Amino acid sequence: MEAWAPFAEGKNDIFHNPVLSKIGAKYGKSVAQVITRWLIERDIIVLAKSTKPERMAENLNIFDFALSDEDKAEIAKLDGTFVAIVNHDTVDNLKRISAWKMGV
Ligand SMILES: NC(=O)c1ccc[n+]([C@@H]2O[C@H](COP(=O)([O-])OP(=O)(O)OC[C@H]3O[C@@H](n4cnc5c(N)ncnc54)[C@H](OP(=O)(O)O)[C@@H]3O)[C@@H](O)[C@H]2O)c1
Repeated sequence: MEAWAPFAEGKNDIFHNPVLSKIGAKYGKSVAQVITRWLIERDIIVLAKSTKPERMAENLNIFDFALSDEDKAEIAKLDGTFVAIVNHDTVDNLKRISAWKMGV
């Protein structure tokens, strides 16, 4: 499993999510670090993007803490319906994607 757009491309005010902020504060970690830790603890490959070196370092600095079972239960309750990447599961979307012309 791979997490493309693990931060939902920064949409939905993800970096201010109150549940993730509260969990991060317990460990002195940011929302981005909680998300990344949550993913790697479930053996999911993380493809996170940042244009800023300090954020790249921040996003990798997740190997000195672990989420508790309570944290994980809270995260699992969050809304998981938002899709940042094109949904490949519908016929309409597959038709739309197959009609795309590459600029090459
Ligand atoms: N989303 C898709 O549909 C898709 C499709 C194919 C490939 N990919 C690839 O998947 C990778 C994921 O990138 P993505 O842009 O799609 O989504 P993403 O990694 O979920 O989100 C990137 C956004 O998060 C911000 N960010 C990253 N670290 C942060 C931090 N620690 N604190 C605050 N903001 C932070 C970035 O801003 P800054 O740059 O300003 O830090 C950027 O706005 C990329 O390599 C992309 O090329 C994505």
